[in-house]
Amino acid sequence: MSEKIISAVITGVGMYTPDKILDNAYFESIVDTNDEWIRTRTGITERRKLENGATSDLAARAAEDLLKSKNISAEEIEVIIVATVTPDMFFPATACLVQEKIGAKNAWGFDLSAACSGFLFAFQTGCSLIESGKYKKVLVIGADKMTSIVDYTDRNNCILFGDAGAAVLLEPSEDTSFGLQDSLLHIDGSGKESLNMKGGGSLNPPTHKTVDEGLHYIYQDGKTVFKFAVKKMADISHEIMEKNGLNSEDIAFLVPHQANLRILNATAERMGLDKNKVMININKYGNTTAATIPLCLVEYYRAGKLKKGDKLIFATFGAGYTWGACYLVWDM
Ligand code: COA
Repeated sequence: MSEKIISAVITGVGMYTPDKILDNAYFESIVDTNDEWIRTRTGITERRKLENGATSDLAARAAEDLLKSKNISAEEIEVIIVATVTPDMFFPATACLVQEKIGAKNAWGFDLSAACSGFLFAFQTGCSLIESGKYKKVLVIGADKMTSIVDYTDRNNCILFGDAGAAVLLEPSEDTSFGLQDSLLHIDGSGKESLNMKGGGSLNPPTHKTVDEGLHYIYQDGKTVFKFAVKKMADISHEIMEKNGLNSEDIAFLVPHQANLRILNATAERMGLDKNKVMININKYGNTTAATIPLCLVEYYRAGKLKKGDKLIFATFGAGYTWGACYLVWDM
């Protein structure tokens, strides 16, 4: 990486999770599954469902929580990036809807689609805008209403996903030993067959037939995705450690995308990390796609578990395929 003169640091966090809980007993009542299978195979005990509203509501409430806890006005925000694969509509971008909802009248922004890697890709993008020197306050939001694209007759998938929004505020720091230090991000479109939502886009515009065939739902070949996710997330996390001369003692926390507890454990093992150094909340929320990483950050920060100077590794894997890791030093 070239020598930076400005670093992008996280200076605020916010989150929103809907009140409605879907526990494992609920899934026992709608598909052929059981609590024990779900907990042991995925680590999930419950997830949230947004009953009224859309992804922009999850995102806007997370942003409002951030603004309130930071005690700043929405008018100070210059850029809004919303990572999501469940936008309210194809267009306008969810970022525009969030801008209006929170009253960020001086902001521009856009949506970014990278599935479960959406937050990491948006985070890198937001950090680059800060590092350019042109922007001083960039809001990066990960939000997904996954319950809007889940087939509740498909036991392989319906148990995995939930709804949430979470946000971070990025600002510049002249002390470049804080904030984003490095990132390794990848895409590989050969993964498109294993995890996708085929209907509704320009390939399969919505018709009665596409709806009858369930093409508007998530399709996932869980086993194939699982194998790839374990390998790629573990490899990339290990690679970013090695590249930055970090050992397991140096790292305060791995902040992994929450897709399956077994994937998180495999990644931690490869990094030589104790389990208590892995941020985990999949048990409470399931896989909330773009929201998982910032949601972990907010909860651990507010629980007093993060301190200034902590070295963190963010790691993710998702549809595309997309995957990556970031190394940053916490500055709050
Ligand atoms: N309850 C009970 N049994 C279930 C079930 C459920 N909810 N879902 C699947 N099963 C069954 C399968 O049908 C299969 O039965 P079969 O052997 O008779 O066909 C059996 O359990 C084992 O399935 P398998 O695919 O081996 O389970 P698994 O250990 O791979 O776990 C997932 C399934 C979906 C939990 C797992 O593959 C996974 O987490 N995949 C990746 C998910 C992911 O990370 N996705 C997003 C990337 S961001």
